[in-house]
Amino acid sequence: MIDFCGIRLEHEVINGSGTFDAIAAQRAFGDELLERFPFSAFVSKTVTLEPRQGNPPPRLWELGAGMINSIGLPNKGLRGYLAEDLPKLSELPVPLIVNVMGSTRDEVAALVRAFGERDEVAALELNLSCPNVKTGLDFGVDPIATAGLVEHVRPLADKPLIVKLTPNAGDPAAVAAAAEGAGADAMSLINTLRGMALHPHTREPWLGGGTGGVSGPAIRPIALAQVAQVASRVRVPIVGMGGVQRGADALDLLDAGATLVAVGTESFREPLCASRIVRELTQLLGEPRLEAPSTVR
Ligand SMILES: Cc1cc2nc3c(=O)[nH]c(=O)nc-3n(C[C@H](O)[C@H](O)[C@H](O)COP(=O)(O)O)c2cc1C
Repeated sequence: MIDFCGIRLEHEVINGSGTFDAIAAQRAFGDELLERFPFSAFVSKTVTLEPRQGNPPPRLWELGAGMINSIGLPNKGLRGYLAEDLPKLSELPVPLIVNVMGSTRDEVAALVRAFGERDEVAALELNLSCPNVKTGLDFGVDPIATAGLVEHVRPLADKPLIVKLTPNAGDPAAVAAAAEGAGADAMSLINTLRGMALHPHTREPWLGGGTGGVSGPAIRPIALAQVAQVASRVRVPIVGMGGVQRGADALDLLDAGATLVAVGTESFREPLCASRIVRELTQLLGEPRLEAPSTVR
């Protein structure tokens, strides 16, 4: 059992927001999925105050080691989520973490207040990869904007608040320290890195959104470096993610300072990979650690 911000979890592996549709998976795999749910907590995809259509197609570009997505966070908005998704997700056998995002402090405040009142929700994750309408820059690239946002919403809910950092910040550890100082209970990282692909013939951007977010094994070393950097600056627990495909990748993030690990892109290739990753990780954690060889003189 793991204690994460006072929430008891069976193991270290959860999902990355937006990469596992638990409702669709239940339709595909049946109720057996609920009996052997692969994650120890379920993180929802990002919910915004108003419904969003998402970006025009094409929305995906496959890379040799991952993908670029320009999904654009389509969702039913707060009212649609509360009416249609929350009742279904609350039946999952694990705690529910709801990921929210807004382009003003007040939008985020409305979401935090609404989900803060719901017993079905164990914790909130605040997605900072969203342009602030005032500055045009993502909230999460600026420690001051991040601290202002977290300070504003922290008192509005009596639940753990996880701040999901963007790797596109100049100094993610400074943003993490600002979020911790403003009252965040945990950090999660990394979100996707901005990337682009060109259409093979027209030479125009391939993705409907122009650019998109790079994820998967390609970003794993960046995730590891940023988790280590953030872990050296904050005391709150960290959810590490970015390119986890195997138990060994999860162990790397734990050793770099994470308390939990999230699996994202790998679930698109192998929907139940998290069960395998938990098995592999459990075995690795049970094995004796090798001592580093002493320097040969
Ligand atoms: C298709 C797709 C959709 C995503 N949607 C969201 C989202 O709604 N909210 C969010 O905070 N992160 C979202 N992410 C980012 C992931 O949760 C995760 O931070 C990132 O992909 C890195 O992990 P990975 O390399 O294991 O995929 C999305 C990623 C992908 C690939």
